[in-house]
Amino acid sequence: TDTMQPLSATCLLALLALLPLSWSASHPYGANYTTEILRLAKAAHIKAYMSEDEPQPCDNFYHYACANWPRLHPAKLQKKRTNYLAELQELFVRKSADMLKTSTVGVENSADRLIRSFYNSCYDQANNTRAALNTLLEVTDFRGGWPEIRVPSWYVYEYDWLHAVASLKSRLGVDILIGLDVVPDYKDEQIHRLKIGAPQLPLGHRRQYLDAAYYNARLQYERNIADKLHNYFPEQSEQWCNEVAAQVLEIEQQLAKGLPHNAALTMEQTTRQRSVAEMKTAYSSYVDVSRYLQLVIKETLSVELYETPEDYMSNLLDVIRNTPKLQLANYTIWRTLDTLDQARIPQGVQPGIWCVQMVRQYFPQQLESLFHRKYQSMQMINELQSTWTDIRRVFREDLQASQQLLWLTPATRHRAISKLDALQLQFRQHDDTQLIRQLYGLQLHEQQFYHNLVNVLQWTTSRQLAKLSAEPQLADRVYKLPHYELSTNKMQIPITFLQARFFWDPVYPSALKYGTLGVLLARQMLHGFDEVGRRYDGRGNKNNWWDSTSESSYARRSQCFQEQYAVFVQYREKPVHDKALLSRIVADNGALSIAYRAYVQWLNNAPEGADGLQQERLPLLDHTHHQLFFLAYAQLYCNDYPESLEFFDELPEPLRVNTALSNSQKFVEAYGCSEGDKQNARFKCQMY
Ligand SMILES: *[C@@H]1O[C@H](CO)[C@@H](O)[C@H](O)[C@H]1NC(C)=O
Ligand SMILES: *[C@@H]1O[C@H](CO)[C@@H](O)[C@H](O)[C@H]1NC(C)=O
Ligand SMILES: *[C@@H]1O[C@H](CO)[C@@H](O)[C@H](O)[C@H]1NC(C)=O
Repeated sequence: TDTMQPLSATCLLALLALLPLSWSASHPYGANYTTEILRLAKAAHIKAYMSEDEPQPCDNFYHYACANWPRLHPAKLQKKRTNYLAELQELFVRKSADMLKTSTVGVENSADRLIRSFYNSCYDQANNTRAALNTLLEVTDFRGGWPEIRVPSWYVYEYDWLHAVASLKSRLGVDILIGLDVVPDYKDEQIHRLKIGAPQLPLGHRRQYLDAAYYNARLQYERNIADKLHNYFPEQSEQWCNEVAAQVLEIEQQLAKGLPHNAALTMEQTTRQRSVAEMKTAYSSYVDVSRYLQLVIKETLSVELYETPEDYMSNLLDVIRNTPKLQLANYTIWRTLDTLDQARIPQGVQPGIWCVQMVRQYFPQQLESLFHRKYQSMQMINELQSTWTDIRRVFREDLQASQQLLWLTPATRHRAISKLDALQLQFRQHDDTQLIRQLYGLQLHEQQFYHNLVNVLQWTTSRQLAKLSAEPQLADRVYKLPHYELSTNKMQIPITFLQARFFWDPVYPSALKYGTLGVLLARQMLHGFDEVGRRYDGRGNKNNWWDSTSESSYARRSQCFQEQYAVFVQYREKPVHDKALLSRIVADNGALSIAYRAYVQWLNNAPEGADGLQQERLPLLDHTHHQLFFLAYAQLYCNDYPESLEFFDELPEPLRVNTALSNSQKFVEAYGCSEGDKQNARFKCQMY
């Protein structure tokens, strides 16, 4: 078994993760056997990512734990960062595909059936360009004909660009020439506002369209457009495809002139507030904002809107005035076609995986709810709660009595305890009746993917626009990792964390659970007690509950970290700009210490005897249980970055992991590091 290939190890784990949790229990005679397979698979999974060189854990522990990661999950394949926790997302998608493929008659509600129809139609039809095209012609109503123009005069005399653009917005949600959205008000958290102005242009900012430095990127973009057109219209000449592609780029270059020069400006800095009447006066009937809104939202607005960026609309006016209608029409049709084309299955992606992602994009809650019912995550919820209880207990005991936190005054510690006691885990609740009601009126058919897509887009758009009359909801935001929310003092747990056999299984060593889940929960918890979190109390109200003595001790202790981390200005010759560096450092170091102590407490209370400890070790790996804890911790952060990355907007994981470990005396002891080893910091900084 020592020769098990790394790749097959990860596949095996994925397979095992698909089985129901009751699997090993339901095979009483084979209980030992299945237990051993599960433990072997987990060990192989861990081992697969470890360095194959002469092990030097005291020199560079991240390398020791993760050196093989980039080989198995290279970032260059998708030009996207890969990391360990993303495996959880993949696992969720794979299980969802499995779930949507097979109907489990009897337990399905109408929402389940609807998302299954969407999934199946996607699976069968998403690659059918003919179907996409027919749908396009139906929804766009270009009566002059396209791509072959039968009535050119229609475009010249009757083509009403604003009407075309407005009706495509309400049918497909696509922003062509004009961007429209509903956003929370910048000042008043209770209301939404309509935002009108520039659409998101495919190439990006002004400089991508207008700077000489991006010439090649533009050429590539133009070629991609021509290729896609050719794919949809094989009968059209190459010249036609190239001409239309050139027209598209040219219009977008003209539009980009209305975008801000400085791409780093925030939305707020480039926005002005105006009434519809004012905009109508400013842009006359060439860009009749009032008519556009009337067509899209079908009501007259008296409140002010956000207009952003400020120069866009006046520039658009020039573009409309100076561009032939045929060219505007080509642009509009192309953008619509491209919107439908986004649903086509990309090369190299399995249809099942792709179609789950489509379902997840439009029906995230319905998918989660079905997943929740199908995989019965109750056992994982209990396990998470109990890990959380352990983490919280350790921190609470520190606050109550420990020598370690004497730098906080008794009064501040007292208030910290009441904030901690109020902190709750929050699992996403699904009200199925409400989810079903949301879908009411949405018609989907097994065999008509592109029709379905249009219906879904229309449904999504009208829901988005309807937010205008509703209050912004915090719960609308969904995070991929556990997330602590300052303004509610709650920690949201994403459903992907409720999957068995990744962090945790009854037959895995508990060291793995505390080193991963324990650390993640502790990190989030500490965000409530750092230099930002201390300004919010246990109810989430803005209210600084620290006294000045505690604040200055915090600042003094941060100084130690700041000096230690100050050397990390770049990594792999790329600059590091981490805006939340101090919070991150405090959470990294504190979470490691708290989770480790929670693990030790668990060990002390665990059933006595060799049997208990035997389970704390794994086959294939020669590690003690203390060593396993730190190994699991480090692997949580295995990742690979693409070469194209310009800078790191967060301190890169290898530096985070190694520095936090080098501050931990327990780590040094577990791996027997000596004085002078890189992983054994001479001055160990400590906060929590
Ligand atoms: C399972 O393992 C235990 C000890 O590890 C042993 O005593 C028991 O006989 C085994 N059961 C089976 C069915 O092999
Ligand atoms: C689109 O572009 C082609 C190629 O330049 C041109 O022949 C046609 O008239 C344009 N307009 C429409 C609506 O197709
Ligand atoms: C879908 O079409 C794309 C592009 O034509 C192709 O690369 C891909 O392999 C197709 N996928 C399937 C599942 O047919």
